Amino acid sequence: MTERYVVAIDQGTTSTRCIVFDRHGQLVSLAQQEHKQYFPRPGWVEHDAAEIWRNVERLGPLALQRAGITTEQVAAVGIANQRETTVLWDRRTGVPVGRAIVWQDTRTDGLVNALLAAPGADEVQECCGLPLATYFSGPRMSWMLDHTPGLRARAERGEVLFGTMETWLIWNLTGGLHVTDVTNASRTMLLDVRSLRWSARACEFFGIPPAMLPEVRPSVAVFGTAAAAFPGVRIGAALGDQQAALFGQTCFTPGEAKCTYGTGSFLLLNTGTELVRSTHGLLTTVAYQLAGEPAQYALEGSIAITGSLVQWFRDQLELIASAPEIETLARTVGDNGGCYIVPAFSGLYAPYWRSEARGVIVGLTSYITKGHLARAVLEATAWQTREVVDAMNANSGLTLKTLKVDGGMTADNLLMQYIADVLDVPVVRPLASETVSLGAAYAAGLAVGYWPDLEDLRRNWHRAAQWMPAMDPDLRDREYDNWRRAVERTFDWIKP
Ligand code: G3P
Repeated sequence: MTERYVVAIDQGTTSTRCIVFDRHGQLVSLAQQEHKQYFPRPGWVEHDAAEIWRNVERLGPLALQRAGITTEQVAAVGIANQRETTVLWDRRTGVPVGRAIVWQDTRTDGLVNALLAAPGADEVQECCGLPLATYFSGPRMSWMLDHTPGLRARAERGEVLFGTMETWLIWNLTGGLHVTDVTNASRTMLLDVRSLRWSARACEFFGIPPAMLPEVRPSVAVFGTAAAAFPGVRIGAALGDQQAALFGQTCFTPGEAKCTYGTGSFLLLNTGTELVRSTHGLLTTVAYQLAGEPAQYALEGSIAITGSLVQWFRDQLELIASAPEIETLARTVGDNGGCYIVPAFSGLYAPYWRSEARGVIVGLTSYITKGHLARAVLEATAWQTREVVDAMNANSGLTLKTLKVDGGMTADNLLMQYIADVLDVPVVRPLASETVSLGAAYAAGLAVGYWPDLEDLRRNWHRAAQWMPAMDPDLRDREYDNWRRAVERTFDWIKP
């Protein structure tokens, strides 16, 4: 019998990867391509959806070629994607209407503030499980419809379609299927998170013609068959990338949590079939849904800027040549020298949801070196994690006992140790580092019977590294207090 494989497409914020996995969840081959980031104005972030599709079209066959296999040997393809990034396109031609607006973009700040004061705001937030914020797709769609001449009329006539990246990719892969999955739909502010249907009330609130919206499907289900990139292969799954990482970390039991350290960082706690309302600045989101089964929910703490702060340190300040060098630079000093950086570049997400916040560096003296700044950059990720974990513990009534981590930043030992120190819990990293892709592959493989059940997937999880907390509690408390005082400084910078 010819060995079969599963392929994952991980369409992320900065790059797209296609990865081939075998039955043991081992990575067989990888093809990756970055795409251009457009920053046309302060706070604006855009992608070219056509460029991203071209990358997938090229990377898919390349990954198969590198694995030395053909599409006949691929059991299924699964998609994990950057969430909330909003693409609109012409139903007839398939051509995007302008650039995609990325999840980090804050141009809807004014609109969000106006909507917060509008009648029905509380009802809509309750319905979708999310706070009104620039982060989500609904306000972004509304902005696009209002700022592109003639677009609203075209959308009302059903000529314009909306999608997040998985919808856009499935449309292109299949030649015209317009669908989304429950995890991605739960990030739009338009989905009733309990019934898992589009909410007419939310569409009305944001002024979104329902004709633009894709059909909502379970995440682990056969969506259709690819006609391009992987001709003849079934698309077995689509999940938001953070939910895919939860799946890849096999956090299938309520109480299990993971944090993925990428451009931003996202801590998700599985709450099972129970929909836990956020009371501490977290998000209620769908974790995944297997076809024919009830949805599993999660509480999420979203941090907008972590890895992208290291990128900023590298590209804008040019204090290091490559991201991993930050650890070496940070190790040239023993502590932060009293310096703290709060990277509120896209406002602050969880637990604050303050879109007007702007980044600060505090505690500067002539003693501060670039080593101290490097340390403050890394520590910012740890303290933001601590704030999210505190909110998670308070919201769920559970106490996090250990944190499973993944993502590019987990290669930084200094950072991982500091996270264990500030959380005062062990931090563990699995052997499989490509957890987002692995989760998409697992989900797609499950949908087509390549893997029999969740238990089978759990057996593939192996611990690769562990960091134990070792910080003096008084020092931890003092540092946390300093961090929080630095956060306070971000709120009043821009005068209304
Ligand atoms: O919500 C945004 C998140 O999905 C982005 O993840 O890994 O593409 O930065 P990433």
